[in-house]
Amino acid sequence: MLKASIEKALNKQIQVEAESSQIYLSMASWAEKQGFEGVAAFMYAHSDEERFHMLKLMKFVNERGGHAQVSALTAPPLSFGSFKEMFKTLFDHEVMVSQSINDLVEIALSEKDHASHNFLQWYVSEQIEEEALARNILDKINLIGDDKGGFYLFDNDIKQLITQAANKP
Ligand SMILES: [Fe+2]
Ligand SMILES: [Fe+2]
Repeated sequence: MLKASIEKALNKQIQVEAESSQIYLSMASWAEKQGFEGVAAFMYAHSDEERFHMLKLMKFVNERGGHAQVSALTAPPLSFGSFKEMFKTLFDHEVMVSQSINDLVEIALSEKDHASHNFLQWYVSEQIEEEALARNILDKINLIGDDKGGFYLFDNDIKQLITQAANKP
């Protein structure tokens, strides 16, 4: 049985993952409107991944006798300035999510909830990967600078990152 404090913290994380999914969905739509198909496809896929993170948490909460809650979400921005700004927003968001997972791990430890602690390790690893991916993309964008041709190639290249993510166990 889940302790009330853990249930509350896990439900907060369910909301964080749902909001992440919405932010990336909004980024997908914005990129699609600019004609960047690759970036849009990457963001649509990333949005699905965040929904999967949310569902995995919901199943865990309900399996352990808690109640996974679907709550109101903060609306994401509609536009993101430039691609550089958008990917910086993505990176900052992932850093925030990692902090949120770390806080959750701390709560599980302090409550001696080893099942939750064990479950959360998957998210700890996932965040390492997601931060690395976001950092990698930011580095690429910084290299491209204002080169339009470079952006065209980047839009094509980013499609490969989707296949890599989709093949993840
Ligand atoms: Fe996530
Ligand atoms: Fe994420």
